[in-house]
Amino acid sequence: MALGMAPKNGEACGVCGGRTYVLERRGDQAQARVCVCSESCSVCGGRGHVLVEREGVFSQKVGPRRYEVMEPCVCTRRRRRVSLFNEVGLPGVVSHAGFDNYRAFNEAQDRGRGVAMHFAHQYVKGGTDTKGGPAKGFILSGPVGTGKTHLLAATLAHLVLEVGVRARYVEISLLYATIRRGFQEGKSGGEIIGPLSDVEVLAIDELGKGRGSPFEMETLDELIARRYNAGRTTLFATNYSLEPEKKAPRAAAPPGYRTTEDARNAVREAELLRERVGERIYSRLCEMCTFVELPRDTPDRRRTRQEMDSPLHHAPGALRGAGR
Ligand SMILES: Nc1ncnc2c1ncn2[C@@H]1O[C@H](COP(=O)(O)OP(=O)(O)O)[C@@H](O)[C@H]1O
Ligand SMILES: [Mg+2]
Ligand SMILES: [Zn+2]
Ligand SMILES: [Zn+2]
Repeated sequence: MALGMAPKNGEACGVCGGRTYVLERRGDQAQARVCVCSESCSVCGGRGHVLVEREGVFSQKVGPRRYEVMEPCVCTRRRRRVSLFNEVGLPGVVSHAGFDNYRAFNEAQDRGRGVAMHFAHQYVKGGTDTKGGPAKGFILSGPVGTGKTHLLAATLAHLVLEVGVRARYVEISLLYATIRRGFQEGKSGGEIIGPLSDVEVLAIDELGKGRGSPFEMETLDELIARRYNAGRTTLFATNYSLEPEKKAPRAAAPPGYRTTEDARNAVREAELLRERVGERIYSRLCEMCTFVELPRDTPDRRRTRQEMDSPLHHAPGALRGAGR
């Protein structure tokens, strides 16, 4: 059930747009808070719960009876969901991310948004699909700055704040680093992986990144196997390619023609996720997820935005237009 309520005057709040909560960046984290418009509750008068009338049959002889039960008020649910969101671990840089401010520059991005939105809006708490199987997640593959993390964030925000689902976000190399640090403190890998295996929906970002060491491969394998076996939904984003056909022609450009950095990136980007994570994990992904691949020429938003902001990149016409 949605948290939003139409205010008395019929106009949506200018701060939250009627959502009753606000997302913002606090340090390096995306955090939520209840909007000022919804801090005091007119439904329960601040008690946090309401009495609702129910009807039930307790004995055939007496027949249906009306009775009252205490239920958490909408304001209590809102506070719970806001604090659930603050445990997700989403990075602050995507605190603004929603489906409505995602722009599609090509058909693949349009499909990516469609898949993520459909998943978010269809998701039923508990995570089973219409046939009782686990709800299928999705994996977004594409070059940097194409909004993959943006779509993961928009999806998790919807699930947590609008559906009340418990979810977590992890960037894969931070996960490896946390586990390694945990080892030094005497914790086992399982102790750290445990909560991530159990959470209802998990988003793993930057899949395939890392050194590919045995430690990293085992950690990833264990996490995905645990979630797979428990029938839990997992979402992914990766810079690596999903399809062999899309492999960039590595040999085409003569060596030395590009900078070493360019060349290294080209090779890295052309690499396949299947090769990065291994056959076992890859085949599980195929079962657990809908695949979306963004073409390599999808524009990098971080770069295009910077170019537009920087006067060095303004077209001469634009400068003249500014009257200087
Ligand atoms: N298609 C898009 N529409 C709107 N914003 C975008 C889009 N792609 C990227 N951005 C924004 O650019 C920044 C980087 O995007 P991000 O999602 O981190 O890219 P990726 O994970 O694909 O590298 C974020 O602030 C994000 O909101
Ligand atoms: Mg990203
Ligand atoms: Zn508001
Ligand atoms: Zn209330």
